Amino acid sequence: MPAMVPGPTRYPVQPDRRNLLARAAGCTPGMRRLPRDPSESLDRSRAVTIVLDDRRLQAFAGDTVGSAMAVNGVAITGRSFKYHRPRGLRCMTGACSNCLVTVDGVPNVRACLTPVRDGMSVHRQNAWPSVDHDLLSIFNRFAFALPAGFYYKTFHRPRFLWPLVEPLIRRMAGLGRLPDRVIAQATDKVHLHSDVLVIGGGRAGLSAAAQSARAGKRTVLLEARPELGGRTRSSPAFSTTAQLTAETEAAGVQVFLGTPAIGGFEGGLIVAASEDRLLHIRPTEVIVATGSMEQVPVFANNDLPGIMTGEAVDRLLHLYRVLPGDRAVVIRYAPRAGETAAALTAAGAEVTIIDPATEVIESAVGRRWVQGVELRSPRGVRRLSCDLLVIGGLSVPAASLISQMGGQVAFDERRQTLSAAGLPDHVRLTGDVNGSSPAAAGPPPAYSPAGGKQFACVCMDVTKTEMEQAVIEGFDDIELLKRYTTFSMGPCQGKACLIGSVRLAAALTRRAVAPTGTPTNRPPWTPVSLEVLAAGSPTPRKETAIHDRHADAGAEFMWAGDWRRPHHYQDPREECRAVRERVGLIDVSSLGKFRIKGPQAVALLERLYPSRVGDLKIGRIRYAAMLNDQGVILDDGIICRLEPDEFFVTTTTGGTAGMEQWMRWWLADWGLDAQLLNMSGGYAAINVAGPRSREVVQRLTDLDMSAAALPYLAAARGLMAGVPALILRIGFVGELSYEIHLPSAFGEHAWDAIMEAGRGLGIAAFGLETQRVLRLEKQHIIVGQDTDALSTPYGAGLNWLVKLEKPDFLGRASLTDPDRETERLCGFTVESGDVPPEGASIVEDSRPVGRVCSSRWSGVQQGGIGMAWLPRSWVKDGRVFEIAFDTRRSTGKVHLAPFYDPDGTRLRS
Ligand code: FES
Repeated sequence: MPAMVPGPTRYPVQPDRRNLLARAAGCTPGMRRLPRDPSESLDRSRAVTIVLDDRRLQAFAGDTVGSAMAVNGVAITGRSFKYHRPRGLRCMTGACSNCLVTVDGVPNVRACLTPVRDGMSVHRQNAWPSVDHDLLSIFNRFAFALPAGFYYKTFHRPRFLWPLVEPLIRRMAGLGRLPDRVIAQATDKVHLHSDVLVIGGGRAGLSAAAQSARAGKRTVLLEARPELGGRTRSSPAFSTTAQLTAETEAAGVQVFLGTPAIGGFEGGLIVAASEDRLLHIRPTEVIVATGSMEQVPVFANNDLPGIMTGEAVDRLLHLYRVLPGDRAVVIRYAPRAGETAAALTAAGAEVTIIDPATEVIESAVGRRWVQGVELRSPRGVRRLSCDLLVIGGLSVPAASLISQMGGQVAFDERRQTLSAAGLPDHVRLTGDVNGSSPAAAGPPPAYSPAGGKQFACVCMDVTKTEMEQAVIEGFDDIELLKRYTTFSMGPCQGKACLIGSVRLAAALTRRAVAPTGTPTNRPPWTPVSLEVLAAGSPTPRKETAIHDRHADAGAEFMWAGDWRRPHHYQDPREECRAVRERVGLIDVSSLGKFRIKGPQAVALLERLYPSRVGDLKIGRIRYAAMLNDQGVILDDGIICRLEPDEFFVTTTTGGTAGMEQWMRWWLADWGLDAQLLNMSGGYAAINVAGPRSREVVQRLTDLDMSAAALPYLAAARGLMAGVPALILRIGFVGELSYEIHLPSAFGEHAWDAIMEAGRGLGIAAFGLETQRVLRLEKQHIIVGQDTDALSTPYGAGLNWLVKLEKPDFLGRASLTDPDRETERLCGFTVESGDVPPEGASIVEDSRPVGRVCSSRWSGVQQGGIGMAWLPRSWVKDGRVFEIAFDTRRSTGKVHLAPFYDPDGTRLRS
């Protein structure tokens, strides 16, 4: 029997010599390897050595890093996120975040699920100078300085403080550190289409999968752990696992081990991830067999190493043959806890079973690991000495994926657990996730009256005091409470704390649990590395038909969406001069190009664009922007009328695919008689711009290129360098210019011909950087750069585009009030000659009130120029304002007219 202490003592638990020695060594005394057993997953013929921090640990093949630590007496697996409290193995199922370690340089690896490899290097995380003697645990004593909503309240005044303090906080708080070098490993993305997907390889999942496969259905089974069998695998009934596994394999089920489903998405997509693979599965039917998750209730010191769930103890005993403690107190919330207690006794531990219906935990005792427990009953508080406190069978269904797939999950007051209240047609549940696990002995109290830290969320170190404080501050809605305190936002995503936190929230807000609700379940349900998320997603790389000519000319390339486009060929200032003074050419083949034809082509375009289209004459061009229902600018380009019922339409480079989808969708929805042909890949396009561009273009065609024959915003069709071409007189860079569209196969030929024709006129190729400077000098906008997801034509200064007299067009209903915008886009100059970076803030009394969206040095202005969103009342020529960037301030001045050729004389020449 354990020692019982009737009254207050000088020490909470009498220190014994073994504890003192263990304390010095940083390990706990009760952990040791047990004799061989048929249930074990070990290969004792293969010894394995791993290096933990600077210590060599002996283990067997089949051990995990967690079990190897336990068998070597390492009780502290790491330090906590905020208070640097010691953490130990808790669930052994990957459900909590207590055992996150760095393995071979990769941070945040779960020790309890990671098989050992000879020579593996393991480091415990988040401590300085060491996990066993962590000086940063001083934060544990300064909890008052780390209140709920810390990030919103602290170090923000004076303003210079936060940038200084933030890096320090980031270093001291922690969930691992990123490696200094990239640790590349081959990752892969696999697409699967199955008739049935079973999520969870426990007994229920295995049975369902085998049954489905035997019925002739293509069946896939996902299991998060490295082995099948779920709870049964680590119970006395372990042999049934082998039988079920064999049946599953014989039936032809495709099994993925160590591969948790991380999210359910629209269209029935389920995403799962292993260490090196991302699975996208589209099943016809989903069977959820995710079982239940054991939780630890809220009581004082409920985070101490040595406090474990019943399943953690079962796995240590049966799979890895590790005795986790030799004086155990088992809180028997469900009958299965009795089996755990029996297994502990059989392994030689001294066990005390507690019925939580008659006694509840007031607090755990100990500093570095549990050394005792205080229990409260109507008779008073008694204290038991122990080195293992087992919370046995306090389970909640693992139901997160159900709600992600569109089901309803709610708290069932009668059964005191989560329950699926509604399921999508293609989803079925089986096993414990259905709530079929034996009912708990009764819910534990929401918290304990004892002093000391009581953790609602162990991952994020959120205490009952912080939750209480947040509720007092008014954050009493469960979603707000979650965001303010960060409970359930850590690596376990609520697996280890959800119900405890919700019960606590209910108690603090004086509500029942059901109306308190649960926070929204979002993917990923299990953490996944960005590397795996990016698996198999090669960056598309598009090159125009003229790409090789640019490479031959020594162009520096840049990404423009998926395209590789020349940034510059020579000093951009030289390129600017060539365009402004002589003639330049740029490859604009990446623009989206569409032909729209049919009796109702006009009707289609009239509805798609806010501009008038019906009155556009044949051979004429109009600048146009496409809007969404809210009147927000989606894209821009030109509309050119080729025939009465045929139009040539361009879109931006990045908007091509989206705009095609958008136009086709509306065409189908409106049921208009028109056809849309995407010619983007089939046509190359070259823009020839500059005062001498007419001479160059005229040398290559018999068409009359004079201003009279082909004025600004006119189009001509004919041969250009011997190739059929469409020539548009438009000018993004603000000069006399011609945009020549011709079949891609002749792109290089046309480029060469233009270069040749311009040789004696000082022609020069120019890249995107030059184009951006020149267009900025004209204040021509770039959609996506100068506009965002809220920008309307009124805000962008494009009121003239909007023809409200038209009966209808997309966005019309949202644009009836031109004065509704509170911000306006306008040009500005910078007085000091600075060029503020794009994204810099416009500030008033140090508060941001606007932003710089484009900025460059302008040769024309001999200074910095840009476009910025400003409060509408500020948009007056000459109005000065303050621009903040880095630690500097500059003065900007509103400049409403274009910086270059404000009357458009050159454009129209
Ligand atoms: S002990 Fe490894 S995740 Fe809980």
